[in-house]
Amino acid sequence: MASYDPFARFYDTVMGDAEPRLAAVRHAIARYRPAARSVLELGCGTGAVLAGLTCLPDRTGVDRSPAMLQIARERDPDAALVEADMASYRTERRFDVVACVYDSLNHLASADDWQAVFDRTAEHLADGGIFHFDVNTVGRLRRLAEAQAWVHDFDGHTLVMDVRRAPAPSDGRMRTTWHLRVFEPLHGRRYTLHETTIAELGLPLDELTERLRRHFEVLECVDGDGAAATDDADRAHVTCTLRTT
Ligand SMILES: C[S@@+](CC[C@H](N)C(=O)[O-])C[C@H]1O[C@@H](n2cnc3c(N)ncnc32)[C@H](O)[C@@H]1O
Repeated sequence: MASYDPFARFYDTVMGDAEPRLAAVRHAIARYRPAARSVLELGCGTGAVLAGLTCLPDRTGVDRSPAMLQIARERDPDAALVEADMASYRTERRFDVVACVYDSLNHLASADDWQAVFDRTAEHLADGGIFHFDVNTVGRLRRLAEAQAWVHDFDGHTLVMDVRRAPAPSDGRMRTTWHLRVFEPLHGRRYTLHETTIAELGLPLDELTERLRRHFEVLECVDGDGAAATDDADRAHVTCTLRTT
């Protein structure tokens, strides 16, 4: 199973400022659930977003990478952090906000797994609560897969990120593999290589909203500029609430 463990200690430096993804979550809360006190973040990683939501005193994060969670624990000791798969995670609790940001949902390998997250989230949302997430669109995944590998130097290290389209998947889905390699300098011209391969699946927004409508009313589905998201946008930022009928 693809894991962020080998990449965990480089993650925050490479991803940079979490403020833009935090701003989108804060915007959704301020607009649709300003009285929120509790949040469940699915795929919380190193806790960069969760720790930025101290306006919500009751914070829970779920992630399947022990190394990412260890960093989250150091960053946000007051949060409850659980090692689990978000598609099968169950708790008796309900939350004012369920968040899943920075394309964590794309990491789930099948549309059925996405649906399982939606089904579980419907069980975990308090009345009037909101589900806020973002995804890489099929358009963005296609563009990334057609582009050259991205090379990024940081703290004397070099990251090479190579996104490729999975060869002709039998279901015709937009499936990509992200090969991440970090070269950590030793002495002289020697390096230690840290590498992992992550898979991302894209779903067309029509299908995504159709699946959401089984439980939710979609309040917003916008791109990074706040316009209605399309499959050609980079990301879709989606906010939903439970259907009342
Ligand atoms: C791109 S990172 C996003 C982390 C964090 N939300 C942020 O904004 O920095 C994706 C995270 O999702 C986690 N993840 C991927 N698939 C998962 C799954 N099925 N269940 C739980 N966590 C998962 C990974 O371990 C990783 O920490």
